[in-house]
Amino acid sequence: MIHISPSILAADTAYLAAAVRAAEAGGADSLHVDVMDGHYVANYAFSPKTLADLRQVTRLPLHAHLEVSNPDDVLSLFAAAEMIIVQEDTTPDLAATIAAVRRLGCQVGVGVNRSRSVEALASVLPQVELLLVMAVEPGFGGQPFDASVLDKVRWLHAQRRAHRLNFAIGVDGGVNLTTIGECVAAGADFFAIGSAAFAGDVAASVQALRNAATASMAFRR
Ligand code: DX5
Ligand code: ZN
Repeated sequence: MIHISPSILAADTAYLAAAVRAAEAGGADSLHVDVMDGHYVANYAFSPKTLADLRQVTRLPLHAHLEVSNPDDVLSLFAAAEMIIVQEDTTPDLAATIAAVRRLGCQVGVGVNRSRSVEALASVLPQVELLLVMAVEPGFGGQPFDASVLDKVRWLHAQRRAHRLNFAIGVDGGVNLTTIGECVAAGADFFAIGSAAFAGDVAASVQALRNAATASMAFRR
């Protein structure tokens, strides 16, 4: 199953409810809400209040992607999200952070930056719903896709199969109609998509991204 999670970082936030409704009409599976602290990344983005406000206008699951230093200090602020995604290099004890997210009643995602190894995360794979491979440096939308991260996707796909695990393999950053197919072929099935989703006719864009991903399933080995 393909999961499309439009990233509202790319939406027109002056008209956020309209953008979200359009994404929903296009068949989005969830909403990706980037949280940025001006420290882990050189940018600022959404807050717990955004999640609370979104909750009033959509039934879509909300995913809080914490691109912040010291996420352990603020996890509980995001308990209203269906999923909390932490960057694996922001916590001294990833297993403890995963357990803390779980105690909040949220699904768990782990994000891994381009410069970081995914093999080091083998032991946490059975404990998470999502492993999110970053294909850009976190902080900004609209950056070009780094195809070298597909090796991580292939490795995760092999691990998932070998150990009969159930986590989703996600890609965040630079995913568009041109790049989504190679991600799917490598084993990815979950996509956080900013600029390519909130462009033009948002509902049609989201639908087209899903169609492209689904069509590429035939090329997966
Ligand atoms: C980047 C964020 C992404 C971002 C992706 O730090 O994690 O979710 O919104 O944007 P695009 O799809 O435009 O690369
Ligand atoms: Zn993100």
